[in-house]
Amino acid sequence: MRLDKLLGNMGYGSRKEIKSLLKKKHISVNETIIKDGSVHVDPDSDIIKVQGDIVHYQKYIYLMMNKPPGFISATADKVDKTVIDIVSKDYQHFNPFPVGRLDKDTEGLLLLTNDGDLAHQLTSPKKDVPKSYYAKIDGFVTEADISSFKSGIVLEDGYKAKPAKLTILHAGNESEIEIAITEGKYHQVKRMFEAVDKKVTYLKRLTMGNLKLDENLRLSEYRELTDQELNYCFSLTKEKKS
Ligand code: URA
Repeated sequence: MRLDKLLGNMGYGSRKEIKSLLKKKHISVNETIIKDGSVHVDPDSDIIKVQGDIVHYQKYIYLMMNKPPGFISATADKVDKTVIDIVSKDYQHFNPFPVGRLDKDTEGLLLLTNDGDLAHQLTSPKKDVPKSYYAKIDGFVTEADISSFKSGIVLEDGYKAKPAKLTILHAGNESEIEIAITEGKYHQVKRMFEAVDKKVTYLKRLTMGNLKLDENLRLSEYRELTDQELNYCFSLTKEKKS
C-alpha cells in the first residue's frame, strides 16, 4: 500500500501533515529516507520509521464499549451525539463503526470495529449469532409469552420473528427478563414485547455470540478486545487479521 496512506491510517496526521513529515525527511523505509508518499510499502516486511520510531502497522481495531443511553449507534449524526464521539482520537483514525444498532436509550455491549467482515458475521440474520439482552418490562411476563417467543412472535407489521429464548428473572407488574434473539430488526425486542401488550422500560445488551459485556466497563467506557475475544472473532471470519 502507499506509504502516505499507511501513515494516514495509523494516525500520523492529515495528508498535508504527512507531506510535511516526508519533506522534512522524518520518514524512512528500511533505513532509507523517503520523501515521496506515493511509494508502495509492505507493512509486513518493510521497516517504516517516523522520526526514528518504528511504525507498528495495525489495520483493524476491535473495541468493546458499554454503550450509555443518549447516544446513537452511528458514525455521524446531525442532531445527536454518536457512540463514535465517545472514542478517543487514538482510535478515531481507524474509522471504527458500531456493529449492529442499539437504540438511543439502550445500554450495554457494543462492538466498534473497522472490520466489515466481522460485522457481517455477527449481524447477518443468516449466521444466527445469538444476542442476549436484559430488560425491565412494564407488565406481567408469563409462561405463555415464553411459548409465543419460542414459536416466533408476529410483529405489528406482520413479520414473524425468528424463535427467541425468553427467561423470566422476576415476574410481577414490573418484570425482569433475559432474551436471546438471532436477528436485529429495528426495535426488535421492544416490538416483540409490544406484540404481547407489554412495554420495555429498560434494555441492556449482554452478549453477542461468545462476546460478553465486561462488567468492569462502566457506561461509556470501552477497551480493546482480549486475545481470547479476538480469537472468537477470527474464528467467525476464518482469517487471522492484524
Ligand atoms: N431491540 C430493541 O428494541 N432495541 C435495541 O436497542 C436492541 C434490540
